[in-house]
Amino acid sequence: MAKLEAERKPLIAGNWKLNLDHLQSIAFVQKLAWSLKDARFDFSKVEVAIFPPFTDLRSVQSLIAADKFELTFGAQDVSAHDSGAFTGEISGQFLSALDCRYVIVGHSERRSFHFESNDLVGLKASAAIRNGLIPVICVGETAEDLETRGASAVPVEQLDTALAEVPSGSEIVVAYEPVWAIGSGQAASPEQAETVAGLLREVIASRLGSDCANATRILYGGSVKSGNIASFMREENIDGALVGGASLIIDEFVKIARFQNHVGV
Ligand code: 13P
Repeated sequence: MAKLEAERKPLIAGNWKLNLDHLQSIAFVQKLAWSLKDARFDFSKVEVAIFPPFTDLRSVQSLIAADKFELTFGAQDVSAHDSGAFTGEISGQFLSALDCRYVIVGHSERRSFHFESNDLVGLKASAAIRNGLIPVICVGETAEDLETRGASAVPVEQLDTALAEVPSGSEIVVAYEPVWAIGSGQAASPEQAETVAGLLREVIASRLGSDCANATRILYGGSVKSGNIASFMREENIDGALVGGASLIIDEFVKIARFQNHVGV
């Protein structure tokens, strides 16, 4: 089904990674919300979500609720467990209680620095859903994978395993982030991103059903900037972006969120 017919609301998501403490997050969110307001940003057309570190979430929740900002937010990771003897883990129940709408699972930095497997990413996605959160499931190939297996084999495999235990019809978001494009300044081509996104949508259809696949937003991530966002958003299967570095520069993130104002989109 075509993008417009499927009515997938574009999602521009900012992954702050390990940046901004809770005090900095308050000033940042205020400035971001005001900048979007000044630009007459239409939240009914595009959703803007932020993903601060865990310790910022309470401050961000309180600020957004008190000032009625239309930004949504989520966490950067979740435990596969809901409670128990799991030192250092954060439960999906706690994130839900903080009004998080989303949680990122399987980011390549978790996979590489914390050795997270596809199975664990699947358990985390299930934990998110069981607690009323929407998992943003990240997949992507390394430069070596790209050379030896092409762009799509690894992301398809990662998503297929991650969805094995997810109930059909669940609301999820998928982020295709080629590892070599993250923080490198070298984004994938829109054509490559579109090809992989199309195949990922087929995986969702086979695991969760075709209605779910049509409704699921697939994001591209990896060196997204205001200068290249429009070229990704023109693609049929790309419904938004997961932005790292550029999400920490307010003017730049606002320009990315306003991609519909760029020529030709
Ligand atoms: P950059 O936008 O800094 O390349 O990071 C992408 C990313 O990892 C978002 O999750």
